[in-house]
Amino acid sequence: MNELKLTDKQFDLFRDFVYRESGICFNVINKIILESRIASSMKERNLDKVEDYYKLVSTNKEELKTFLDNITTNLTKFFRNEPNFKLLKNYVLPRILKTKKLGEQIRIWSAGCSTGEEPYSIAITCLETPGIREQDIKIFASDLSLNSLVAAKEGRYDAHKVENVPEDYLKKYFDKLPSGEYAIKSNIKKLITFDYHNLRHRGSQTNMDVIFCRNVLIYFDTESVKLTVNRFYDILNEHGYLFIGHSESLFGLDTKFKFNNIDNSIVYTKN
Ligand SMILES: C[S@@+](CC[C@H](N)C(=O)[O-])C[C@H]1O[C@@H](n2cnc3c(N)ncnc32)[C@H](O)[C@@H]1O
Repeated sequence: MNELKLTDKQFDLFRDFVYRESGICFNVINKIILESRIASSMKERNLDKVEDYYKLVSTNKEELKTFLDNITTNLTKFFRNEPNFKLLKNYVLPRILKTKKLGEQIRIWSAGCSTGEEPYSIAITCLETPGIREQDIKIFASDLSLNSLVAAKEGRYDAHKVENVPEDYLKKYFDKLPSGEYAIKSNIKKLITFDYHNLRHRGSQTNMDVIFCRNVLIYFDTESVKLTVNRFYDILNEHGYLFIGHSESLFGLDTKFKFNNIDNSIVYTKN
């Protein structure tokens, strides 16, 4: 049972703050989530007053990071929305490969990578694509949840987390540990650079061939989606591709991206 009830004023304060710092929108429907996360953080810090906690998170950068980490939803799974990975392998990567000069790498960004299942699925899909070798790929994976990033870098997953991974991939790309967990093999890990990045701010990413930003924009309002997606447009190469979540859409947003529905998968390209 959640003991903390934010007054309307307190809720507005936190809601506006979260939005400014992350682009994530809380509304009265998910207010209870915000209340429970604030309550547990206050308890851990022996704070009684909501205003004191607000002062802490709004003035201390480390506390802000922890707070944002606590309020994110990190649900993910391997090969989530499988048609995206089929399209990546059968359509996107072969086309990108043709644009590359000898020795030039394919650059892919998993933006909002959570605990790593998405970038590892991308890495495996790349290696399963004819003509692509380890040295041909560079994957960047970022999130604002530090806890998720630690788990992603670790790359160890309980057996139930790898249920979606085909048996032959499990044998090829994972080591089964005595604990029953599955660990991503080191040659896959080294294809990925994990980094903290808040999509609210401009990052250092450039010249991407593919961007995956799936099930992240759903927490943003229209303005933040537009800002984020326009940045993606600028950093994608001319022949670049953008994958967003199954339940997300750029419809009506007036972005320069072109909508494509190919083999049951939606992918956005530059005009
Ligand atoms: C539901 S998970 C999706 C993970 C993965 N992309 C997938 O589709 O399975 C959403 C992730 O987005 C991250 N996120 C939310 N807001 C963000 C922001 N402003 N900047 C970076 N990451 C953010 C969360 O921390 C969380 O890990």
